[in-house]
Amino acid sequence: MKAVVVTDQAVGTAGMTLVERPEPNAAINDVVVQVHASGFTPGELTWPSTWTDRLGRDRTPSIPGHELAGVVSALGYGTTGLSVGQRVFGLTDWTRDGTLAEYVAVEARNLAPLPGDVDFTVGASLPISGLTAWQGLFVHGRVQVGQSVLVHGAAGGVGSMVTQLAREAGAYVIGTGRAADRQVALDFGAQEFVDLENDALEDVGGVDLVFDVIGGDIGKRSAGVIRPGGTLVTIAGPAEARPADGRAIDFVVEADRAQLSEIVRRVRDGRLLTNIGVAALDDAVAAYNPTERIKGKTIIRVRP
Ligand SMILES: NC(=O)c1ccc[n+]([C@@H]2O[C@H](COP(=O)([O-])OP(=O)(O)OC[C@H]3O[C@@H](n4cnc5c(N)ncnc54)[C@H](OP(=O)(O)O)[C@@H]3O)[C@@H](O)[C@H]2O)c1
Repeated sequence: MKAVVVTDQAVGTAGMTLVERPEPNAAINDVVVQVHASGFTPGELTWPSTWTDRLGRDRTPSIPGHELAGVVSALGYGTTGLSVGQRVFGLTDWTRDGTLAEYVAVEARNLAPLPGDVDFTVGASLPISGLTAWQGLFVHGRVQVGQSVLVHGAAGGVGSMVTQLAREAGAYVIGTGRAADRQVALDFGAQEFVDLENDALEDVGGVDLVFDVIGGDIGKRSAGVIRPGGTLVTIAGPAEARPADGRAIDFVVEADRAQLSEIVRRVRDGRLLTNIGVAALDDAVAAYNPTERIKGKTIIRVRP
C-alpha cells in the first residue's frame, strides 16, 4: 500500500516521504480500515509516541496521522460492534502506525459510525479538534449555561470547535488570536475578540473558564483572568501558572465513540461547521511543507 513515513525526528515535516509499505493486519479487537481521508497534526512529529512504541522501542519507519474516515475492510479476532463495509471515523492510537496510508489497523472502540451524508474529508477533520473541544469543555471544564469562556486560538482547529460548542452550551464566548483571525472567530460564534498582538489580555476581566491552545506566556497570563472558582483548561502542556482560587487541568485527547457520535450529529444538523483544505495523498508531503500550507485544517484525500 502507499503510505507516508517518517524516519528522522530531527528534520520534521521535511523528512516525510511517500513509499510502499505492507498492508496492516487486524489484531484482537482491531479493524482494518481502508482510509478514504486522513488528518495529520505537524506537532505530532515532536511527540515520543511517533518514534517509539509503548515500551520505548524504536518504531521507525513510522506512519504519521491519527485521524481517519474510511470503510472497514477486515475484522480482527473477537471484534464486535463494527462490520466489514461500514463507514467509520475516529482517532487512532498514538503509538501505532497512523492514517496517512491506504489502510490502517485500529482498535474498533476508537471508531464511530460515519453517517452516509457526511463526506469522508469532513469526518477525518473531526476526531482531534472535536474530541479535544468536547472533553476540554464538558468533561474537564464542566462548562455551565451563562458562564463566560475565553477561547484562545478561536479561529484554529480546536478553538473553532470550542467556540461553537460553548455557544451551544449557553456560554458567553470571548475568542482570541492574531489580528487577522478576528472575523473567522466571530463567524464561528465568538461574541467578542481579543487580538493578542495588539490588545491587553488582562482587560478581559474575570472569566469562568479559559480554554488555552497556545501555552507559554499567553497561558501564564491567562491564569490571572480567571475569577474565583473558575477553571484553566490547557492542551498545550502542563499549566505554568494556576488560577489563584480555581482549577487548572491539562490533558491529552482520548478516543471516545459516544462523543464522536455527538459531534458528527452536530455536523449533520449544521450546529458545527468545519474549516478544511483538501490535498491528495500524492501531494501530502508538499501539503505539510510550511511554505505550501493550504487554508484551514489540511485533510488528505487518500482514496479519490
Ligand atoms: N493535548 C491535546 O490533546 C491536543 C489536542 C489537539 C491539539 N493540541 C495542540 O493544541 C495546539 C492547537 O491545535 P490546533 O489544531 O487548534 O492548531 P491551529 O489550527 O493551528 O490553531 C491554533 C490557533 O491559535 C493561533 N495562535 C497560535 N499562537 C498564537 C499566538 N501566540 N498569538 C495569537 N494567536 C496564536 C493560531 O494562529 P496562526 O495559525 O497564525 O499561528 C491559530 O489560529 C497545537 O499545539 C496542538 O498540537 C493538543
